[in-house]
Amino acid sequence: MTEQPPLSGVYGAPPRGVVEAVTGATQFSPLVPGSAVLEGLADGALADITLLAPPGTVERRYVMAQSLRVLAPGGRLAIAAPKDKGGSRLRKELEAFGCAVNEDSRRHHRICVARRPEAPVGLDAAIADGAARFHETLNAWTQPGVFSWDRVDPGSALLAKTMTPLAGKGADFGAGIGFLSKAALASPKLESLLLIDSDRRAVEAARRNIEDPRASILWGDVRTAAIEPGSLDFVIMNPPFHDGGTEDKQLGQAFIRRAADVLRRSGTLWLVANRHLPYEKVLAEVFKTAPSRADTGGYKVFEARK
Ligand SMILES: C[S@@+](CC[C@H](N)C(=O)[O-])C[C@H]1O[C@@H](n2cnc3c(N)ncnc32)[C@H](O)[C@@H]1O
Repeated sequence: MTEQPPLSGVYGAPPRGVVEAVTGATQFSPLVPGSAVLEGLADGALADITLLAPPGTVERRYVMAQSLRVLAPGGRLAIAAPKDKGGSRLRKELEAFGCAVNEDSRRHHRICVARRPEAPVGLDAAIADGAARFHETLNAWTQPGVFSWDRVDPGSALLAKTMTPLAGKGADFGAGIGFLSKAALASPKLESLLLIDSDRRAVEAARRNIEDPRASILWGDVRTAAIEPGSLDFVIMNPPFHDGGTEDKQLGQAFIRRAADVLRRSGTLWLVANRHLPYEKVLAEVFKTAPSRADTGGYKVFEARK
């Protein structure tokens, strides 16, 4: 058998003009549905990797440590982050793993380039700190980096408390580790529930957290996932309002439009959102009615009917 040449990797979408990934590099970000799994690579399998670093410290050190684990000795790691989202800490974090670092600055980003040392230090500890784990207080599997990874989001808690028992076929858009789905599945009249999330780590946690045979779990993008238009009785969601770390109202609005598309006539959307997010207009455009069912603690809940 001929040996495969080592792979080039990319993690996320490093901005053009800041740092360029090798053409044809394999995508490893868990936020890109269908991407390859860094954790699944053997030690030393990568020739190089270019990363847009995640903003959370534990998550970022985990990704750096996994990258150094899978790089061949001498393999090149290039990592960038906005200065105010971890960029100013990249150098120190890489040096703590035993890397000699070249640091540069472009377009409000710090960029650090290093070669994998012969014997990096502290990889196991950083990997253990950022790995998936069972969280006793949440009573659920979770992982640093997924949405609200170590506490129940107050908005989701408000929706779970407000929504009435659901019946028929439905979906949880942006299901995360499955908090809302678990609440929905308490209703015996619920026949089937499709959980969709674009974060592989959340999907893997949800697969461990939700054992109900009525549930199916998809790693995908709500905006493009294959769901028959007009086929569902209900959709529940606490829609994302960040894309790549910046506020993105359009993502939540696209979730609402997609819900209207996949609901049957008179089907129901239960939605929670931060009070300041402008969803009323799009709800009025694509739903017949959308009364507010709760408005407290900075969150609002709507029960929209198609
Ligand atoms: C505000 S969180 C809600 C999570 C969960 N439903 C809860 O209540 O705890 C939004 C979720 O949407 C996911 N997400 C973001 N963009 C997405 C997309 N385009 N398609 C599917 N899921 C997406 C995020 O990974 C995140 O888990």
